[in-house]
Amino acid sequence: MEIIVRKGKLKEFRKILKVLQADPAALHGMPEEQELMSMGSFVRGSLSDPKMNLVLVAERCKKIVGCLFAELWVKKGFSFLSMIAVLPEWKGKGVGELLYQMFEEHCRKIKGTKALVWLVGTENKAMAKFCRKIKAVRGKKFYYYEKQL
Ligand SMILES: CC(C)(COP(=O)(O)OP(=O)(O)OC[C@H]1O[C@@H](n2cnc3c(N)ncnc32)[C@H](O)[C@@H]1OP(=O)(O)O)[C@@H](O)C(=O)NCCC(=O)NCCS
Repeated sequence: MEIIVRKGKLKEFRKILKVLQADPAALHGMPEEQELMSMGSFVRGSLSDPKMNLVLVAERCKKIVGCLFAELWVKKGFSFLSMIAVLPEWKGKGVGELLYQMFEEHCRKIKGTKALVWLVGTENKAMAKFCRKIKAVRGKKFYYYEKQL
């Protein structure tokens, strides 16, 4: 199975959006301000601002089967993984791990970046196990607050 991981392009906006729309779990873990935005604006906004955002896609035979979104907070010394999603029929085949590895590789090359951070819904067992697999440490210091408007 040859899967290529590369940067996503603005013209692929719809294909990438489809991957996120395929799984409602894809929304969980997004920071609240992004949850309030439409997923379309989130995808388009990320693709149109490559200086601040990294969008990776996993491609198999020209079909996008997974994607990863991250904000590169270069001056702050860390990057925020806002979303990772794999099409349901492609889950459990290592696609998520390939996307994550490329993200980590990219951030290791950014001088001054010391950590990668993200949020995971408490009910998201698959992602929790995924995080253990990639050796990420679960934080204990923060509660998630939100104020509905
Ligand atoms: C979480 C997600 C991105 C993982 O992608 P994936 O391609 O299926 O994961 P991989 O095949 O690369 O698996 C890597 C490891 O993650 C863990 N894992 C992945 N899916 C799992 C599942 N359903 N149950 C338990 N562990 C799982 C395993 O430890 C696995 O390693 P192993 O197969 O050697 O045991 C995918 O399930 C997904 O798209 N979920 C919906 C969107 C989502 O919840 N995103 C995260 C929001 S914070």
